[in-house]
Amino acid sequence: MYDYLIVGAGLFGNVWAHEATKRGKKCLVVDRRNHIGGNTYCENVEGINVHYYGAHIFHTNDKDIWDYVNSFVEFNRYTNSPVANYYGELYNLPFNMNTFYQMWKVRTPEEAKAKIQEQIEAANIKEPKNLEEQAISLVGTDIYEKLIKSYTEKQWGRKCVDLPAFIIKRLPVRFTFDNNYFNDRYQGIPIGGYNKLNEALLEGIDVRLGVDYFKNRAELDASAKQIVYTGQLDEYFDFKLGYLEYRSLRFEHQTLDTPNHQGNAVVNYTDGETAYTRIIEHKHFEFGTQDKTVITHEYPQEWTPGQEPYYPVNDDKNDKLLREYRKLVDAETNVIFGGRLAEYRYYDMHQVIGSALAKVRKHFGE
Ligand code: FDA
Repeated sequence: MYDYLIVGAGLFGNVWAHEATKRGKKCLVVDRRNHIGGNTYCENVEGINVHYYGAHIFHTNDKDIWDYVNSFVEFNRYTNSPVANYYGELYNLPFNMNTFYQMWKVRTPEEAKAKIQEQIEAANIKEPKNLEEQAISLVGTDIYEKLIKSYTEKQWGRKCVDLPAFIIKRLPVRFTFDNNYFNDRYQGIPIGGYNKLNEALLEGIDVRLGVDYFKNRAELDASAKQIVYTGQLDEYFDFKLGYLEYRSLRFEHQTLDTPNHQGNAVVNYTDGETAYTRIIEHKHFEFGTQDKTVITHEYPQEWTPGQEPYYPVNDDKNDKLLREYRKLVDAETNVIFGGRLAEYRYYDMHQVIGSALAKVRKHFGE
């Protein structure tokens, strides 16, 4: 008899399993996929760790979380510095002095600020009514037109004038020549890929892969005293209140017979004609020197039930449904719900690890 059945071998489930095992408990982890790691899973192709479910860059301001992950695997010094491609024009991201020089040939922060301010004033937007007006009132028309508009429309599958203003609260603008996308103190990629982290978390723990909890529910429930559930919240309750909606993605992985395709891990395509939003070249996450390279085209997609769920849609309709499902969660006494799917919220990796550690401590009364 196990103390815990953990449904889902993603970061939440794996951290929980590791911590419970450390506290002398016996755990069984099951996942319906044929690998561990959830969405952080890397597939090794030509010696390159391919981020199979989308680019994953670890970043955090929390020293405890950074020390925690580094206790399982060493991280490299990768710094996320994406490049935007707008009809062949290249711009550094996030918006910084390099971007402004490329856009307007301005060389000083004063000149850049004046250019942005001039465009904001010309647009004369007093109360932004939609995402387009909000973005223009923050960064002006040039940056909006070339680097925000079409990229955002591809991501959301809707026109910026039809998207609410609140989606963009701030648009970080940096008046230094600094292409580091994140402001966090710590950042990197596990040396050898994310599988190393997940394997270390699950070391010595029973794992069954290719096992769908719902297809084996009675047997699995009987095998453990308590359940930690990290799958989709609505699925746990057999979708009885309706479907929580997601935005989905489609990834097309491709191996190329060249050592270096685009010179950067992440290139965003910000024009309206290219159907994909990004090309990821995975070897650059780990400074790879292999003869070949693997790239992934990322296409945003409408989500229909049964498709891979990626980003929760936290609009009024789904938030209301979420509140109803949460009432059912409260009535479920022997199950701990955690992670991005069971909580129906977007978590970065450091956040989901933090959440798992906090729930473990609470559970064990520490
Ligand atoms: P995750 O989804 O990883 O794991 C849940 C597991 O449960 C899955 O393996 C699933 O198969 C399994 N499961 C579900 N139902 C089941 C059932 N019925 N039976 C058995 N198993 C079941 N974060 C970050 O910090 N930096 C980044 O750069 C990115 N990039 C990024 C890109 C994209 C495209 C996405 C969608 C997300 C990111 N993230 C990210 C976020 C990161 O992926 C996320 O924080 C973690 O994967 C969350 O881990 P979980 O364990 O919650 O879920």
